[in-house]
Amino acid sequence: MAKKIPQPTTPPRERAFLVGADIHDRKQILSLEDSLAELALLSDTAGVDVVGELTQKLSRPHVETYIGPGKVEELKALVEETLAEVVIFDDELLPRHQRELEKALGHSVRVLDRTALILDIFAQHAHTKEGMLQVELAQYEYNLPRLTRAWTHLERQAGGGGGRAGSTGGVGLRGPGETQLEVDKRSIRNRIAHIKRELEKVEDHRMRYRAQRKRSRIPTVALVGYTNAGKSTLLNRLSKADVYVADQLFATLDPTTRRVQLPGDNTALFTDTVGFIQKLPTTLIVAFHATLEEIAEADLLLHVVDISHPNALGQFQAVEETLKEIGAGHIPMITALNKADRLKDPENARKILQNFPKSVAISAMKNTGIGDLLVLVQEELFEAYTNVHVRLPYKEGALISLFHELGQVERIEHERGGVVMHGRIPGRLLAQFSPWQAKANGHERHRSPEMEDETNTEEEV
Ligand code: GTP
Repeated sequence: MAKKIPQPTTPPRERAFLVGADIHDRKQILSLEDSLAELALLSDTAGVDVVGELTQKLSRPHVETYIGPGKVEELKALVEETLAEVVIFDDELLPRHQRELEKALGHSVRVLDRTALILDIFAQHAHTKEGMLQVELAQYEYNLPRLTRAWTHLERQAGGGGGRAGSTGGVGLRGPGETQLEVDKRSIRNRIAHIKRELEKVEDHRMRYRAQRKRSRIPTVALVGYTNAGKSTLLNRLSKADVYVADQLFATLDPTTRRVQLPGDNTALFTDTVGFIQKLPTTLIVAFHATLEEIAEADLLLHVVDISHPNALGQFQAVEETLKEIGAGHIPMITALNKADRLKDPENARKILQNFPKSVAISAMKNTGIGDLLVLVQEELFEAYTNVHVRLPYKEGALISLFHELGQVERIEHERGGVVMHGRIPGRLLAQFSPWQAKANGHERHRSPEMEDETNTEEEV
């Protein structure tokens, strides 16, 4: 009698070995142990099984193999013993490190780093056209220098005389001859240029949409937070929207915006954004600049922290650092300490809260603390005032009247072509005024050419 053997519907997961180094004097937000635990979670999200890990303390990375030659030997034996197919380093490797390590471990073992892993996860999770283009661009930019050096390596293997070295596979990028390599490099550069043009078009469209949103004067709140903190769950809770939630890192890549009713009959637009992570690769910060700009243009940041995480404070700091890097450090921020349902002792929550100004303990999943959180958002946007000092040309008459109408003007200095205004405005108007902020040294982001230096001053109290 014939018997059908059930076929697996998903391909078998690859086996990965993790490597981390404790580099002397390097500024590190997470300990090596926590960073490797995070790498294991990233690996799982990317679809590989972790079969072991190895660490080394170093004063600086080894020039050729990142870890020392003795450690490489140890790694080789462990990789053979555990049948690992991939070795993943916790730090970004130079193309040379990657090449030398693959040579030492045998070419059947692939060597990857944290950046490649994150890029892979991003590629799996991007759904909108913009998200997919951004990830593709980051992947090509990451691969291009590696392609060049991979060629040098193949050339040397073949005797350095420009002979045919044979393809290594590698997504069909490494051509069999010098001409092929040149062709490959050129076609990647062309592709990069094409993606950039496409991205410009998509971004233009989004800028127009953003400008329209600003004109509608509905304040925007950007949800920011470490990956897996619960931002999407919270947005779903607030708006009853169906945003994808998963216990995975970077489940959300594309910003989702929802209108939320606040107490006091006001509304605000809440935007879910890409999750942050320590050692967020620079290639990705650059690729996602448009998405991250959404954050820099928000009226208020709602920082979601997974308070049940053993390293909640480290994660909080990593997010703050990235916010500064993308120019969002000046935006008012409140903090939602999420997953409070997981804390065994509620007294603990109260103690933790004291460390975070303007914070509320919530559980997005169990629906607790949400009312208090919305009250805080309402206060920050509609009741709290922020000090500003702006230089506005007369053509921005609408903003000048808005300041008079809704803000508290303390002083006006008239200049030729416009005014410099000092005073306080409600938090929700900050994004509209921030491009005109007058800096102490007189340089602002938009200085109008028609404006000249101060002539006379009025006081208004
Ligand atoms: P990224 O897309 O990676 O940035 O994640 P995110 O911050 O959007 O997190 P998401 O909402 O996808 O939630 C991550 C995991 O945490 C999911 O398994 C959620 O069910 C879980 N989670 C979210 N909020 C809570 C909560 O209040 N309590 C508990 N116990 N789990 C929660």
